[in-house]
This record gives sequence, structure tokens and C-alpha cells, in this order.
Amino acid sequence: MTTCEAYLKKQKQLVEARLQTLLHTEDKGFASLYEAMNYSLLAGGKRVRPTLLLATVEALGKTAAPYLDVACALECIHTYSLIHDDLPAMDDDALRRGKPTNHVMFGEGMAILAGDGLLTFAFELLAAQQQIEAAKRCQCMAVIARAAGPAGMVGGQAYDLNAEGNMHIGVEGLQFMHYHKTGIIFEAAIEIAAILADATPAIRDCLRTYAYQLGLTFQITDDILDYSGDAAMLGKPVGSDAKNHKATYVTLFSLAEARSMAQEAATNAIMAVSALGEEAWFLRQLATYLLQRVR
Ligand code: IPE
Ligand code: IPE
Ligand code: MG
Ligand code: MG
Ligand code: MG
Repeated sequence: MTTCEAYLKKQKQLVEARLQTLLHTEDKGFASLYEAMNYSLLAGGKRVRPTLLLATVEALGKTAAPYLDVACALECIHTYSLIHDDLPAMDDDALRRGKPTNHVMFGEGMAILAGDGLLTFAFELLAAQQQIEAAKRCQCMAVIARAAGPAGMVGGQAYDLNAEGNMHIGVEGLQFMHYHKTGIIFEAAIEIAAILADATPAIRDCLRTYAYQLGLTFQITDDILDYSGDAAMLGKPVGSDAKNHKATYVTLFSLAEARSMAQEAATNAIMAVSALGEEAWFLRQLATYLLQRVR
């Protein structure tokens, strides 16, 4: 195991231990909803976004422990986005994180509500972080709301939905879609860390470039894996994009071209944080790890 993998594993354990304690109800009337939320939230997953937030705080020389719940809130939002992404009205997929998707288990209505519940709960959790001074907390909430919302991830998902069956969205369309549906949440994770760790404007600029390039690396690789990956390794179906007639990096370019574009994005990400010191080692290694991932 590389040091990067060991770090990811450690953060994943921390995040998952906390996630397990977050969503409980004493009220029997809510039990099925909480069951559906916890089902997807605790189903595994790489936990890349919360890890990125915590790692960036550490890369900026600060202690990440006080921000574990902020990282968990981000994972709640990510999990909600996956539940909704898999719905029959969207990608219509039956496997996620190695298990039947939420709507397959609990029905479409409950899956929609589980997503709604996770999204809303994330903001309740953020608002409760009294160890973060009110102005900063508010700033973090605004960053997440903007990134997850209509001019962010939801907007990217809407673009994706509208583009189904249209193989001619061009590179610009593809970049717009990838940035909004995926990259912007990576950017938010890093931006929040920069706010919490009081990064200088110059460092924030470097981190923003890093986040953009890392998100691109991640989503090009996601497109490649949807085309040529292994469902058992991925824990989600292969061929979902082709089934839904989606334009991706693999349909607009050849597989070799897509691979080299992902490589270029990873290299750009690593270069973007060259001004950061040795403390940013994980951010550098993560770019290569996400490029080479098979899950
Ligand atoms: C999948 O995200 C959705 C995309 C944005 C491509 P991940 O690949 O991070 O999924 P999990 O969290 O590990 O399940
Ligand atoms: C979904 O993109 C991104 C979000 C959930 C916001 P994809 O549809 O490519 O994700 P996967 O491949 O199903 O994980
Ligand atoms: Mg999708
Ligand atoms: Mg999908
Ligand atoms: Mg995909």
C-alpha cells in the first residue's frame, strides 16, 4: 500500500465512524426514511470529497479534527446526488457502491426522499458547527450551497440530462458538464478547507486550479471506467453511459486520447500546488492515485 492509500484508508475510517453516528431517530414514524438514508450513506464509497477537505486543511498546516462534521456534511450531499443520479428518471442504474441502488431497495419515492433528507440534513449539520465562528460557518455553507445548487452540481446534472442522446455537445459542452456535475464539489471541498485554514488569496488561487484539474482527472477517469472498467471493482455498472446515449470523453475522443487528457489534467493538478510545501504531499499523490484508480 502506498502512503497515499494508507492516508485515504485512515481518513475513510475516521469519516465512516462518524457517519455511522449521525442519522438516528427515536421516532418509529421516521424509521424507514432513516433506514433508506443510512443504507446509501453507510454503503462504502471512497470518501474522496471529505478526505480532500480534511487533507487540504492539513496541507495548510492546520489540525483537521475539528472539521470532521463539515467533511461528513459534504459526503451526505454527495451520497444524495448518487441516489438521485441512479433513479429511473435519470441514469436508471441498479448497482451502487456494490449494492442494489436505493430505489431498487426502497422504491423510487423513498429514494427521492432519502436524497432530500441527506441534502437537508447536511445543512443542519453545518449550521450546528459552533466551534467554527459564525461568519466562517456561514461562508462555508454558502460555498457548499452554491456548489451543490442550480448553478453547480444540480445544474451540471440538468445539463447531463438534457444532453442525453446528443453526441455533439463538443468539448466545451463536455467540460461545462463535467465541471458542474463533478468538479465543483471537489472545488467546494478545497475552498472550504482554505476558508477554515485561513489560506492567503494566492494559495487559494493555486488550490482552485488544483481542484479544477483534479475534478477533471476524476471525471475523465469515471467516463473511461464506465466504458472499460470492471463492475465488480467499481461497485456500479459498466456501460451506463452508452445505455443512456451520453456524450463522454470516451465518445468525443478515443480511449487513448481520453487517457492522455486525464494524465495531462493530473499533471496540471500536481503543478498547481507546487507552491505549497511538503505538507501538501497527499494532494500531489492523490492526483496520480485518482488517475490510476480502478474503482
Ligand atoms: C461517483 O463518485 C459520482 C461521480 C461524480 C463520478 P465517486 O466515484 O466518488 O463515488 P463513491 O463515493 O466512491 O461511491
Ligand atoms: C454523476 O455522474 C455525478 C453526480 C452524481 C453529481 P455520473 O452519472 O457519471 O456518475 P456515476 O458514473 O453514475 O457514478
Ligand atoms: Mg449521471
Ligand atoms: Mg450515473
Ligand atoms: Mg459516470
